[in-house]
Amino acid sequence: MWERAVSVRNSPVISHLYVHIPFCPKVCPYCSFYKEASDRNKTQRFLDAVLRELDVQKERHVVRPQTIFFGGGTPSALSTSQLEYLLGGLRDRLDLGALSEWTLEMNPATVSLEKAVLLRGMGVNRISMGVQSWDDGLLKVLGRVHSASQARRSYEILREAGFENVNLDLMFAVPGQTAAQWEVSLEQTIALQPEHISSYCLTYEEDTAFFARFTRGELQRDTHQEADLFEATMDRFRDAGYEQYEISNYARPGRDCVHNLAYWMGWDYLGLGPSAFSTVGLKRWENVADTVAYCGRIEGAGVAEGEVEHLTEEVRASERVAFGLRTNRGVLRTDLTPWEEEARRFEDGGLLSGDLERVYLTRRGRLMADTVAQAFV
Ligand SMILES: C[S@@+](CC[C@H](N)C(=O)[O-])C[C@H]1O[C@@H](n2cnc3c(N)ncnc32)[C@H](O)[C@@H]1O
Ligand code: SF4
Repeated sequence: MWERAVSVRNSPVISHLYVHIPFCPKVCPYCSFYKEASDRNKTQRFLDAVLRELDVQKERHVVRPQTIFFGGGTPSALSTSQLEYLLGGLRDRLDLGALSEWTLEMNPATVSLEKAVLLRGMGVNRISMGVQSWDDGLLKVLGRVHSASQARRSYEILREAGFENVNLDLMFAVPGQTAAQWEVSLEQTIALQPEHISSYCLTYEEDTAFFARFTRGELQRDTHQEADLFEATMDRFRDAGYEQYEISNYARPGRDCVHNLAYWMGWDYLGLGPSAFSTVGLKRWENVADTVAYCGRIEGAGVAEGEVEHLTEEVRASERVAFGLRTNRGVLRTDLTPWEEEARRFEDGGLLSGDLERVYLTRRGRLMADTVAQAFV
């Protein structure tokens, strides 16, 4: 007992906890996150496995979260009583004295007042809801299970339940979407005054139905239009008082998502559930991306590690630069010392700028963020 207390005390403290809920009301044709259609027969076993995984990880690390993020998949695909069981189990096991942000992702089709009130009462203080578009035609193209009016009603329910920190996800460059339609989506989003907006350019991810259609030539990318829509987004949200604190993320002052910042700043985090990633010190692992296999492995050995990567300090430093540059905090100029030549080339080319202390992406640099980031990894 004494030995375990010492080893726990010597382990890194985990301040950021992710929980992956792999169920969705219906699988969207563009999405490559690990998920499956909701199956009530599997769910109780899955909930118990997550809680057991937490017990096992607590024997290895001190878990004292400042942020918790329930992502997916669709955490709100769980019923109210299943959420109560899981969140209650977490609350019983964790010291939440340092917790400042607890986010849960919801799909508009799975929001109810009863569920929202329960979540708020259990300590969740931030909701991230996938709206994608306020246009019913485009929602159909995206294979979404909800209409625009249902998303609006769900947003009102979240406010009624007392949520004062709400993110809405949007997607642009959707097949068939015009610039005018995107402008309307931006206006309608701003009119609702969410505290945070994530706005993603549609990507054709391998192993999705959209990717298959893209490779068959049925769907096409227009990179000029993507850039135009991205620029319109940056301008419109800035004018409406949102700060673009990361390439795809906009927030009212003080409403940045701290959990996501932890990833971008290269801080340690622990992930529970199938396909969840964890990075602790120089070890990174991904849990198996299969719910039944995950449950079996947790019930047996207590861990469900699939891929394990042993990192070096250099790799973690390069990741901190590549991801840190995506944020408006930029990176310390001293962090760029190993890449002085690349950094100078980007500064001369107008993609990076900065002062003696810090270096940032310029507006033009934001349009080519992936290219810049690749130079540092
Ligand atoms: C886990 S989902 C959010 C919660 C819930 N599952 C939903 O869809 O409403 C995360 C977000 O990633 C974005 N996303 C997923 N696949 C994407 C893709 N291929 N390209 C761009 N954004 C994508 C969507 O905006 C989505 O809302
Ligand atoms: S976008 Fe959301 S609802 Fe759709 S499949 Fe992905 S995780 Fe599930």
